[in-house]
Amino acid sequence: MKCVIAAGGLGTRLQNFRDNKSTKILLEVNGAPMINQQIKQLNNWGFENFVIITNPEYSDLIQDVVKKAHSEFHIEFSVQDKPKGISHALLQAEHIVNNEKLFFVLGDNFFEKNPLEGFDLDDFKEGAYIFTKSVDNPKEFGVAQMDKEGNVISIEEKPEMPKSNNAVVGVYMFDESVFEMISTLQPSKRGEYEITDLCNLYVNNQKCKNFSIDGWWIDAGTPERIIELEEKLG
Ligand code: G1P
Repeated sequence: MKCVIAAGGLGTRLQNFRDNKSTKILLEVNGAPMINQQIKQLNNWGFENFVIITNPEYSDLIQDVVKKAHSEFHIEFSVQDKPKGISHALLQAEHIVNNEKLFFVLGDNFFEKNPLEGFDLDDFKEGAYIFTKSVDNPKEFGVAQMDKEGNVISIEEKPEMPKSNNAVVGVYMFDESVFEMISTLQPSKRGEYEITDLCNLYVNNQKCKNFSIDGWWIDAGTPERIIELEEKLG
């Protein structure tokens, strides 16, 4: 399965952290740029075929950094011209991913364990899968509500009153219809094509399932979380 990595976010909360003046995906994490740490993580999970979505400003730099470190993998790049949201970032992979299921990861998300551990990919026939983890600060993430069978009944983006503690972590699996689905999305109030809205299209068709993950999970979007990640990676 191809793995699409969203690596276009500028990471405003990380500007100037350790003199960072560029994009968070190039920030050094334990001596290697975050994007290369991400590729290493994904390869440990078995992926060798990647599509990396970058932003126009740092596209060349990101390509250089990745190609130098990972010439052994098949890696393609696509540029998201404007920061119009995570679903819009995924749409930039449309011309590279041909009518196949895909794994999508947000470049700053790191995990103790492979989220796909214990998951039989033969069971993935259609629809979408989200992956969740119980947290004490659900308001900071997408939050999913499930029925007894594990079917997702709603997902809300950073809700004021979360309906559960299940945070949606930054890995997703989508079937072949994903790009068609994205093309029907409307921008949210903040003007972005949200990943939560895309997942909710699958929820409305009763085609979104949840897989609960074990082990630590870090969305490395702030200085504190980068430091925590470095300690965890050891
Ligand atoms: C994004 C998604 C959110 C998800 C989170 C996981 O938020 O919009 O639904 O829970 O990633 O890391 P962001 O971290 O971009 O604010």
